[in-house]
Amino acid sequence: MSRAPAWPYPRVLAHRGGGALAPENTIAAIRVGLERGYRAVEFDAMLAGDDVPVLMHDPTLERTALIVGAVSERSAAELERIDVGGWHSERFVGERVPTLQRTLRFCRDHDIWPNIEIKPAPGFEAATGAAVARVTAEVYAEMIFPDGDRADHVAPRVPLLSSFAPAALIAAREEVPGLPRGWLVDRVPPRWREETARLNCVSLHTNHRHLTDNQAHEIKRAGTWLFCYTVNSPQRARTLFSWGVDAFCTDAIDRIHPDFAV
Ligand code: G3P
Ligand code: MG
Repeated sequence: MSRAPAWPYPRVLAHRGGGALAPENTIAAIRVGLERGYRAVEFDAMLAGDDVPVLMHDPTLERTALIVGAVSERSAAELERIDVGGWHSERFVGERVPTLQRTLRFCRDHDIWPNIEIKPAPGFEAATGAAVARVTAEVYAEMIFPDGDRADHVAPRVPLLSSFAPAALIAAREEVPGLPRGWLVDRVPPRWREETARLNCVSLHTNHRHLTDNQAHEIKRAGTWLFCYTVNSPQRARTLFSWGVDAFCTDAIDRIHPDFAV
């Protein structure tokens, strides 16, 4: 039996904003998810050159902006003038890199729950974690309380911060202790329990491809929330839920309805 309270958030999230249906990490993507009933989203936050967090997955601009250069070489204002929609499709030409602050205000105002993945460029782990926590605390100021990072105290509307980088999670906690955090891994490591506890994380986020039935049950028995990325098959999603997985993000927002789990 799990000792943790039930997962208090939506169980199906759009990955990178709008999954595969829109350019990743944009406001347009979150709107596309919203049109399909998605009120929960995962996206990636990275520091611009002036230490302002923006939505970005890669540390370089080649793939989504089709230009050469590092994200850290440009200010947030410069990045906000860059087209990151055209690579996806004609419909999204002109879509810009949003700041985390603008994105969170959009989410808060549209009642969309965000799982913010802190995605530091190498060497910027602590700075990114602290900046993401600071901006989140500004936007959700009246909803954050000192114990809000405890599973039995989390507020369902307050974002969950997640990261592969322990240093980012530690810095986020030092900056704003009341924000809940999740530790991201590719494979569940043998010492997952100790590390999740050391990082004071409420959840473990893992690649569903490597997760086993036994691991899922062990994690749930320990009272840790379990999140999977990136699940694009309804059949696989059903299996994961049958193992006790609490939630997942998907690129297939056209094939998996947000109420899938209900
Ligand atoms: O948050 C989980 C998932 O987004 C991790 O993979 O590379 O899409 O950020 P990635
Ligand atoms: Mg991500």
